[in-house]
Amino acid sequence: MIELQEISPEKIGNKLPNIAREHKWLQTVWGITRPLDYLEKMQERYGDIFIADFASSPPQVIISNPKAIQELFTADYKLFQSSPGNQIIEPLVGPNSLLLKDGEPHLQQRKLLMPPFHGERMQAYGQLMRDITQQVMSKLTVGSSFVARPIMQEISLTVILRAVFGLKEGERYQRIRQLLTAMLDSFQSPLSVVFLFFKSLQRDLGPLSPWGNFLRQRGRLDQLLYQEIQERRTQEQFSGDDILTLLLSARDEQGQPMTDVELRDELMTLLFAGHETTATALAWALYWIHSLSDVREKLLQELHSIDIANAQLTEIARLPYLNAVCCETLRIYPVAFFTFARTLKTPMQLMGYELPEGLRLSPCIYLTHHRPDIYPEPKQFKPERFLERQFSPYEYLPFGGGNRRCIGMAFAMFEMKLVLATILSHYSLALAETRPLQPVRRGVTFAPAGGVRLVVKERH
Ligand code: HEM
Repeated sequence: MIELQEISPEKIGNKLPNIAREHKWLQTVWGITRPLDYLEKMQERYGDIFIADFASSPPQVIISNPKAIQELFTADYKLFQSSPGNQIIEPLVGPNSLLLKDGEPHLQQRKLLMPPFHGERMQAYGQLMRDITQQVMSKLTVGSSFVARPIMQEISLTVILRAVFGLKEGERYQRIRQLLTAMLDSFQSPLSVVFLFFKSLQRDLGPLSPWGNFLRQRGRLDQLLYQEIQERRTQEQFSGDDILTLLLSARDEQGQPMTDVELRDELMTLLFAGHETTATALAWALYWIHSLSDVREKLLQELHSIDIANAQLTEIARLPYLNAVCCETLRIYPVAFFTFARTLKTPMQLMGYELPEGLRLSPCIYLTHHRPDIYPEPKQFKPERFLERQFSPYEYLPFGGGNRRCIGMAFAMFEMKLVLATILSHYSLALAETRPLQPVRRGVTFAPAGGVRLVVKERH
């Protein structure tokens, strides 16, 4: 791992972006505990391309300049690796995960995983998304209050378990659901997240210690996943439109199928990347819709303009204001504040800077989305901006970009729209508390503090 001292301009004589002068431990604690404040202050002090230094990783170039992001996303992917930056999620997803692959193996695996998340195959999951939403929401009674994030997570996890595993309701399904939720919940506070950032803390000190507890939960979950894989292997025909079926029939260039461990890691990757993210985005959307009455009114008007119960799912997904609300939700507080870091395998020129090998380049989604030159009044929630103009993929990047752009982008947007349309057309909800909500760290993502408490006013 390179150190900041090794790349100082005095030492290597090249042109580097501004380097944050604050001590690396101050930057680490500030960045973990008050990330918004840290990012905004640093950008103010050092500009839209600057070098940050954290105790847990090599120096990082934090980028919120769209031209630089464009140069990065369109550069030859062989210049970068994302696996070093993604090591922090290895304990969850395993070493064979797409997130930890680079170069040709990454490209090959992406090709295999992409199709079910697009086009007709994805749309086949649409009715499922609506039915699951109805089923989960029907447990809520009029007059009761509920916290949106876990309820949205129940919806998105059920969707992903059906789409990825083809799992039906049953005991194994219920246990997988509980264990996965408990495991992700154990990283929800800034303090517990420290265990992911620092390998030296990852010690098994028995079932009552945080890491020991995590390892035991993961062991139990793995057992269930391997049971499912084994059972599906013994089925005569791999039939079904779920992703496990697809992966079971896949062969590599030597004609070899994926091993159980490879299958487990890829399934965990999709479960991990695919449901908490969507659930958090939905919780934010419900928060904004119910805190701004004109947004809610406009959205309801649009939804009432079509026969929601009988509309084609694609017709709902094309509604312009619904789309704008989802886009603005992911702009103002993106679920991931950063794309994956790209670690330089060789030196690179970026915007005239000469960046040495080993440096990490981190496009900052949050800061880019808050540039007042692109998004006037960036702290205001205004879906209209997405009706008035189109933003380039380097100005608007909630799903990252380039060769690592999120493979679940279309799937997540489709799900967000169908879930919101289903909830809003069947329920009148209101916020239980009126105070403004801030994003807080949940693992490697950012979610609304408290999870958004809502009250069920009416059911239609
Ligand atoms: C609102 C929901 C979601 C958000 C905000 C989101 C965001 C992101 C971001 C920012 C990245 C990193 C991209 C980069 O570095 O350029 C990413 C990667 C990824 N996402 Fe998503 N995601 C969402 C939903 C999903 C879903 C539903 C799935 C699949 C079930 C998924 C699977 C993945 C995978 C596998 C990658 C790694 C891609 C690679 O390494 O090539 N995501 N996502």
